[in-house]
Amino acid sequence: MKTDYTLISLEEIEMRLKECLSEERFEHSLGVMEKSVELAQKFGADTDKARLAGLLHDCAKCIDKSELKKMIDENNLDEDNCCAGSYKVWHAPVSAFLAQKDYGVNDKEILSAIKWHTMGRLNMTLLEKIVYLADKIEERTREIEYRVPIDKVLKETGDLDMAILKSFKMTICSLTERNLPICQTTIDVYNELLKKTTH
Ligand SMILES: [Fe+2]
Ligand SMILES: [Fe+2]
Repeated sequence: MKTDYTLISLEEIEMRLKECLSEERFEHSLGVMEKSVELAQKFGADTDKARLAGLLHDCAKCIDKSELKKMIDENNLDEDNCCAGSYKVWHAPVSAFLAQKDYGVNDKEILSAIKWHTMGRLNMTLLEKIVYLADKIEERTREIEYRVPIDKVLKETGDLDMAILKSFKMTICSLTERNLPICQTTIDVYNELLKKTTH
């Protein structure tokens, strides 16, 4: 299947991803692709964009830390502070970079959904919210204790912001329990979502 948003067919993308991701990460990527499409159908987003963004969101996940850092520095990928916080978010901007460079994705909305899928950001677009959530609640590899509370909020409220807020609450709790710092973006997005969902 070919879409308007990439120069390469979906089958070819899957084949290439299978080569460069671990088995579990590839399975997770398929799960995020399926869940992104499901949420796009439900919330009225472009399903082709959701499919590609979901499939490619972690395409740089199996690159080692020093190589990710090098790619970020050499290509100015941290211009808008998307690499703030832990090194665990570095793969997101690099995945967006590679989605464009190696997988021929030419759509800004898709690239931005990939770039912000780990951190989230203020004023997220519909597609960004969908991929962010799909990454947390896909059923192929995400653990039940982690995905069910978020999915439950989504099902009960039918509100993407409420479900993302739940995910942020869980992340913040987990960081505090492990004595880890919380980056400013996480606090800002949490405050924004809280305001949006309680007024
Ligand atoms: Fe990721
Ligand atoms: Fe992921």
